[in-house]
Amino acid sequence: MILQGKKGIIFGALNDQSIAWQVAERAKAQGAELVLTNAPVAMRMGAIKELGQQLNAPVIKADATSEEHLEKLFTESQEHFGGKIDFVLHSIGMSLNVRKGREYTNLDYSFFQKTLDISAVSFHKVLQTAWKLDCMNDWGSILALSYIAAQRTFPDYNDMADAKALLESIARTFGYHFATKNKVRVNTISQSPTMTTAGSGVKGFKEFFDYADKMSPLGNASAESCADFCLAMFSDFTRMITMQNLYHDGGFSNMGMSPALLPMLENQ
Ligand SMILES: NC(=O)c1ccc[n+]([C@@H]2O[C@H](COP(=O)([O-])OP(=O)(O)OC[C@H]3O[C@@H](n4cnc5c(N)ncnc54)[C@H](O)[C@@H]3O)[C@@H](O)[C@H]2O)c1
Repeated sequence: MILQGKKGIIFGALNDQSIAWQVAERAKAQGAELVLTNAPVAMRMGAIKELGQQLNAPVIKADATSEEHLEKLFTESQEHFGGKIDFVLHSIGMSLNVRKGREYTNLDYSFFQKTLDISAVSFHKVLQTAWKLDCMNDWGSILALSYIAAQRTFPDYNDMADAKALLESIARTFGYHFATKNKVRVNTISQSPTMTTAGSGVKGFKEFFDYADKMSPLGNASAESCADFCLAMFSDFTRMITMQNLYHDGGFSNMGMSPALLPMLENQ
């Protein structure tokens, strides 16, 4: 029960494949009290209300790009908990350029702005809302989920690569401010390709998933194991980790070439 007595807000559980869904289930099993949230449109598409019932957690809709929605979410969450918040998971990503098949060399710039706003600037808005409302407990933990395309080129990841680079930068910079304010830590977890709604929207995802699985000596990290890592980061066992981008990828990020890939290449 490493989260016994802790209270947290989880953004981004759409269905049971979502990384956030796994985090919510496991956080509850480890003793946490939760508020779940997602965009208004996801309330209609997804099964988040069932998850809320299952975990006895209120579901509060919020478009993470809306400061007004976020203020309402954090205020109502504190009312529900009867006090401040210990952890927040930002598990949000979306690119209309990816969805509509626009190549990186032919971006629609209004879509690009939406990609940045939804997938990265929303994290700043979450942090700034929590800051202004002073609603984080000392030694709290705030996490967002990233991908290695922030550091290296994965062409089909498209404008999401730029969004992840911005997301990681926001974690570092806001991490400084929140640490000095009241010891709250801010980090990103850079996760393996994972079979979810957002993940499988990327062109050639299945082939890429298999490639990354072979390239990683431990294999791709699953959504469940990502959730376990998130729990560790919310717990008191990781109090001195902040302003980091932490790879949770089975070793992928430090590989150059894996012999496990050769049969795949020879079969071509
Ligand atoms: N799946 C992967 O391969 C992979 C790999 C590394 C990192 N990630 C990251 O993990 C996070 C979670 O994605 P996932 O793979 O679980 O997919 P998912 O599709 O289950 O989750 C994405 C969530 O973002 C929410 N969202 C979109 N627009 C929003 C808005 N305006 N306001 C609030 N919420 C909004 C969606 O409703 C959805 O719940 C994302 O940041 C994603 O980039 C995923």
